[in-house]
Amino acid sequence: MQPSGAEVHQRIARISAHLYPSNPQMGDGSILERTNCRAKGGAAGFKVAILGAAGGIGQPLAMLMKMNPLVSVLHLYDVVNAPGVTADISHMDTGAVVRGFLGQSELEGALTGMDLVIIPAGIPRKPGMTRDDLFKINAGIVRTLCEGIAKCCPNAIVNLISNPVNSTVPIAAEVFKKAGTYDPKKLLGVTSLDVVRANTFVAEVLGLDPREVEVPVVGGHAGVTILPLLSQVKPPCSFTHEETEYLTKRIQDGGTEVVEVLSTFRICRDCI
Ligand SMILES: NC(=O)c1ccc[n+]([C@@H]2O[C@H](COP(=O)([O-])OP(=O)(O)OC[C@H]3O[C@@H](n4cnc5c(N)ncnc54)[C@H](O)[C@@H]3O)[C@@H](O)[C@H]2O)c1
Repeated sequence: MQPSGAEVHQRIARISAHLYPSNPQMGDGSILERTNCRAKGGAAGFKVAILGAAGGIGQPLAMLMKMNPLVSVLHLYDVVNAPGVTADISHMDTGAVVRGFLGQSELEGALTGMDLVIIPAGIPRKPGMTRDDLFKINAGIVRTLCEGIAKCCPNAIVNLISNPVNSTVPIAAEVFKKAGTYDPKKLLGVTSLDVVRANTFVAEVLGLDPREVEVPVVGGHAGVTILPLLSQVKPPCSFTHEETEYLTKRIQDGGTEVVEVLSTFRICRDCI
């Protein structure tokens, strides 16, 4: 049996509520009014926003959040391509309700009511750039986004991925201090990549499965500020002087290793 016109409108309204929650067409009292839609929010659980959701980090992160049973609402914000990424992620058959937000005018909608805000927005390093070269561009982006957080979800936990993390975290702290919302327990720079790399490289040297290796890494998230504690590795082990030098340098330069390989690949691809 064919659905009636009203049923079709309601289905479109539900889809539209996922993709364009702040769509002005939905506030005009017509059948597309968002309050008529079922997709208003998920079951109890964490409400998570990803800022920079359409990027290389943002997209797989959005997928992981959509797979996480603790997440009930997932807001995907970016200055480009947010609707497409939202459509894609929203097709996954897991519980979290996914909504997309595009551009500065929709930032407040993306942030309001969020428990956790994860920020991979900004530009990544290009060959020859240090994390500090990113500072000027990403610092401004992070500052604007954090001003939005202070206004719309001041109690949210904030995870900063945008580099240079050593500097973007203090920028966020200053924004929150100025707004009177700073809680050091709720502002985190994401540096687990250094631990992941350390586990992998140490496992290679020891000839172990990386899943069995735990390497504590302290300090910052750039070059020599990354400090792998090779004396504290589990399972307990010892390294020669050469191994310690090799591992420390490889863990500290892991990001640069990836940027350089990516640039080689891009050059080769362009030459084909
Ligand atoms: N902390 C870590 O361990 C870690 C690991 C990898 C990457 N990073 C950093 O994460 C950032 C993102 O890397 P990527 O590879 O995803 O880059 P990317 O260029 O693929 O994606 C960045 C995204 O941010 C968006 N963006 C730019 N300005 C924005 C704004 N004002 N508001 C919202 N979104 C905005 C872009 O449109 C893009 O979609 C980089 O700074 C990179 O160095 C950190």
